[in-house]
Parts: sequence; structure tokens; C-alpha cells
Amino acid sequence: MNLLIYHGKDELLEDLAEFILKIGNDAIEESGRFNFVLTGGSSPKTLYQQLSTKYKDQLDWEKVFFFFGDERNVSATDKDYNGLMAAESLLQPLGIKDDHIFYVNTSLSPVEAAAAYQTAINLHFNGAQPSFDLILLGMGDDAHTASLFPDTEILESSEVGVKAVFVEKLNTYRISMTAGLINNATNIAFLVFGKSKADAVKNVIESEEENTTLYPAQLIRPENGHVTWFLDQEAAALLNT
Ligand code: 6PG
Repeated sequence: MNLLIYHGKDELLEDLAEFILKIGNDAIEESGRFNFVLTGGSSPKTLYQQLSTKYKDQLDWEKVFFFFGDERNVSATDKDYNGLMAAESLLQPLGIKDDHIFYVNTSLSPVEAAAAYQTAINLHFNGAQPSFDLILLGMGDDAHTASLFPDTEILESSEVGVKAVFVEKLNTYRISMTAGLINNATNIAFLVFGKSKADAVKNVIESEEENTTLYPAQLIRPENGHVTWFLDQEAAALLNT
């Protein structure tokens, strides 16, 4: 695990963009395509805007396939739909073709949407174990990541796939990649900034006892992949490192 701590958000986002472009160019050189999983939430918005403007000439975006680590159980036109924020800040400005974007179909029930998403991913990987080149993750102040929330059933899943999960504290369903599917990735990058995340960062990275029920982001520990944390000083304030 690699911890990168930045004084300011600008420097963090610049390095994270370069990190994404390096992985993307290497993946395209090696396999002709870049399978890239986006995170939802508010943290990545500026990053996406920069990728689609400042960095738009630094990757062959036509060879990138975009996925989502999780999605809210809302309509695709709802402001809370992760796919909408990504479309507006990244995908539409880059002119990404529809067949290169895997949105979660929330017009289906959560269980059907999760099953359909998993099928689409499996087809994309031609039935081989799905292994994404890069998965971008955020983290909530309760140490959830994707929609792996504390005390939810999905945390117990050993599946390598996508599941619907009822999140009691939000009183709503989410559709999320399981920890098993996320951990199959070659590269995973957490994007976490702000003092509200400091406790969660401390508990996930440095807590004495492992407690994945309480701190689900602890589940993200790929056997073969690499995890890099992009943190600002506020989010990293309680770390000893
Ligand atoms: C989502 C995300 C979720 C997010 C965290 C952090 O659907 O909301 O996938 O895991 O990354 O909640 O969100 P912020 O970036 O808004 O703090």
C-alpha cells in the first residue's frame, strides 16, 4: 500500500491525474484498452473536469472503457446518480461513445440492476475473471467505500461481482461492486480529502484491530494489485506515518 499525502488539493489532483494517465497509457500499450472504474460522490468532480480538459490530449480516450464501482438506486437523470456527474464532467466533454460506458441500469429493480451489471462486466471480459486496470475509490467519513457500508450484508459476500445492498442508515438500496471484484483490480486508488475523513483514514489504515464491519474500506487489499492512497494533509492528520 502506498500513501501519498499532499499539502493541497490541486497538487493531489495533478498527481492523481498523472497516475491515471500512466496506468491508462500502459494498459492501452499492453492490451489495446484501458478498463477504468470511476467512483461516485463529490470528491472526484474536479478531477474528472481536469481529465476532460487539461489532460484530454494525454490519453487515447477512444480506447477507454468506463465503469462505476457503485450506483445509487435513483433514476439516471437524478442529480445523485453517479453516472450523471461523470457524464457531465468527463464522458460527454470527451465524447466517449455509449458502447464504451457501462452505466448501471437503475430503471430495473436493485437486484436486477446488479445482476445485469455483473452480466455486462462478465461479457466485457469474455467470461474471464474481471480484472480492471484501475479502480478509483472514494471513502465516506464512516469508512465506507463504493457502497460497502458498515454493518451491511455485502461485506460478508465472497462473490467476485456486483450486488444490491440495502443500506439501513440511508434507508435506500445501492448497487455495488463487491470487495472481491474490487480486489481483482491491478491498481486501486483512493481519493480522500478533508478533515471530516481523518478519523476514518486513521481507523482504516492504522487501527490496531482489523474490523471490516466497522471500517469496510479495510476490505480493499488486493492479493496481486496495488493500492495507492491520495490524501490531503487534513484527511491524513491523525496518521502516525
Ligand atoms: C458514492 C460513492 C461513495 C463515495 C464516498 C465519498 O456513490 O457516493 O461511491 O463511496 O466515494 O461516499 O463521497 P464524497 O466524495 O462525496 O465524500
